[in-house]
Amino acid sequence: MSRKIAIFDTTLRDGEQSPGASMNTEEKLIIARQLVRMKVDVIEAGFPISSPGDFKSVQEIGRIAGDACTVCGLTRAVDRDIEVAAEALRTAKCPRIHTGLGVSPSHLRDKLRMTEEQAIARAIHAVKYARNFVDDVEFYAEDAGRSDQEFLVRIIQAAVKAGATVVNIPDTTGYNMPWDFGARIRDLRERVDGIEDVTISVHTHNDLGMATALALESVRNGATQIECTINGLGERAGNTSLEEVVMAIHMHEEALDAHTDIVTTELTRASKLVSSITGINVQPNKAIVGANAFAHSSGIHQDGVLKARDTYEIIDPADVGAGGSQIILSARSGHAALRHRMGELGYAFNDEEFETIYQSFLEVADKKKEVYDEDLESIVHERERVSAAIWTLGAVQVSCGFPLTPTATLTLLDEEGAEHKVCAFGTGPIDAVYKAVNQVVSVDNDLSEFAIQAVTRGIDALGEVTVRVTAADGEVYTGRGSDGDIVVSSTKAYLNALNRLISHQRERAADNAAATADAQ
Ligand code: KIV
Ligand code: ZN
Repeated sequence: MSRKIAIFDTTLRDGEQSPGASMNTEEKLIIARQLVRMKVDVIEAGFPISSPGDFKSVQEIGRIAGDACTVCGLTRAVDRDIEVAAEALRTAKCPRIHTGLGVSPSHLRDKLRMTEEQAIARAIHAVKYARNFVDDVEFYAEDAGRSDQEFLVRIIQAAVKAGATVVNIPDTTGYNMPWDFGARIRDLRERVDGIEDVTISVHTHNDLGMATALALESVRNGATQIECTINGLGERAGNTSLEEVVMAIHMHEEALDAHTDIVTTELTRASKLVSSITGINVQPNKAIVGANAFAHSSGIHQDGVLKARDTYEIIDPADVGAGGSQIILSARSGHAALRHRMGELGYAFNDEEFETIYQSFLEVADKKKEVYDEDLESIVHERERVSAAIWTLGAVQVSCGFPLTPTATLTLLDEEGAEHKVCAFGTGPIDAVYKAVNQVVSVDNDLSEFAIQAVTRGIDALGEVTVRVTAADGEVYTGRGSDGDIVVSSTKAYLNALNRLISHQRERAADNAAATADAQ
């Protein structure tokens, strides 16, 4: 069995320190329930002395956690802090007090104004004092990442001797390189007497984007608890992201000789919950939980994933509770991806048909960032309309705006492919186009209805126009056209209706001619 790495979640304490992430007790409880469901080992529920709200949150979370996990309250190495934390934690079945102080030269000199000996004395006192209230006391050596290693060994040794059950080595400023930090952990493990009986925890920040790497390197060197937050929330650039360390350990269990008890299928849900409660969006390309974490955009990748998912995916999206792999149809998509999606939508084409669909798809994709299912439906319907065409659109251009007279310049192609060019004025751009169409396609009709709607989302959505025209005999014909440009879709829709009208009239004429011939 590999080593168990405890997951200490500090979303509700360090995570809440993200600018704009403050949460009320009700919201913290919702997140805490999700953390319990996910089976984290420790919830750092707040800093009880900092505010009545934090006090209450620690109290309430202690109540709901039961014996499912340890509930922890943060303190400074100050008696009153420890007393208040102990009071808040009275509801918890498994309470932990997390106490400590800064240990780097800059913290000792500029913040605490203490000598190293005074800091050691304070650490010993705080740990012993906290042990009067609870059996589980975690000592943090703030800014350990920039501390003098000899002093770090001495103060950690003192904390262990004083009764700390966990020693937390934070890289508070996210300054370390993974190998240097790993070496610090190894050194502590080799030199501190009795450290084998306590948990070595690491608490790393992401100022150089290496919080996850530091945590994993620490595990390699003997740490057995990682402090982290959902979505990597936390002071400044944030903390180690829970979902990243959990999945990295999960994927490399053998090499790291380590595992966690986290229910990984709850990770996406946890991420979404924290994001919706804090209002802090997850960047789309965020590992594990970003919207694009399982989305494939390039044609080569899409082709690979459709043949075998693991060509470009190391994690099964289902393992983290994500919806599934996504094939994003865009100008970079190839035939395989389009054919696959069309198949899912229930369309099957022979190779020749598919090639024309693919060319239309590229035209739409060139104008849009992403091609949605509705766009594909529209492309298919447009193709059906074109294949029934008598008159087709060659080109259309309009000029309009205040104080211009709306003018349309139009080129239509007849069944033989001959070009017909005209120009017309109108009361608006569409009216000008329709007048131009009427000059070429001279068929009696009345435009009785015109409607336009966006087929898909966004400013670059396809616009679909529906028109109804009434022929001289009172028969009504519907036409539809879609395009990213509403002038073009309006023109296509009108031509579609007129083509139907003409082909119906031709059919009727042919039927009449046949009937007359039969009668003779
Ligand atoms: O970053 C840090 O050092 C901390 C401590 C209070 C554990 O958040
Ligand atoms: Zn921190």
